[in-house]
Amino acid sequence: MLPLLTRLDHVGIACRDLRRAIDMYRETFGVGVLTLEENEEQGVREAMLAVGPSGAGPGSLGVGYIQLLEPLGPDTPVGRFIARRGEGIHHVGYRVEDIREALATVAGTGIRLVDDRPRHGSMGASIAFLHPGDLGGVLTELVQPLS
Ligand code: CO
Repeated sequence: MLPLLTRLDHVGIACRDLRRAIDMYRETFGVGVLTLEENEEQGVREAMLAVGPSGAGPGSLGVGYIQLLEPLGPDTPVGRFIARRGEGIHHVGYRVEDIREALATVAGTGIRLVDDRPRHGSMGASIAFLHPGDLGGVLTELVQPLS
């Protein structure tokens, strides 16, 4: 079997206050915001912070991201996550070449899918989540960047 995951794309971090989290990463590590988006479907306001060569844009080789996620309300997946477990790492996102193919391959191994078809993610990517219960407690996201 070929490796499905081509690289680590981002770490998703749940926070109560996006602005404060952005400031913390900037003041501590000097990393800046690449994009700010609101995703109603997922119930989050989010920021992507680039980790890698300065001046590199979305999809650049050698760039990974910190994805800061603030819930739009308590009754959202990230809102419930924070209520249960507090702020912290929410999920890990890995890049794949072809998300439909990757989902079919993963489903074929018996892992439960949260999304059985790709949906719209940050920076125009196609994304899909896999069930943490079948992956050692880690909510895992597959990411096919906008090409
Ligand atoms: Co993500």
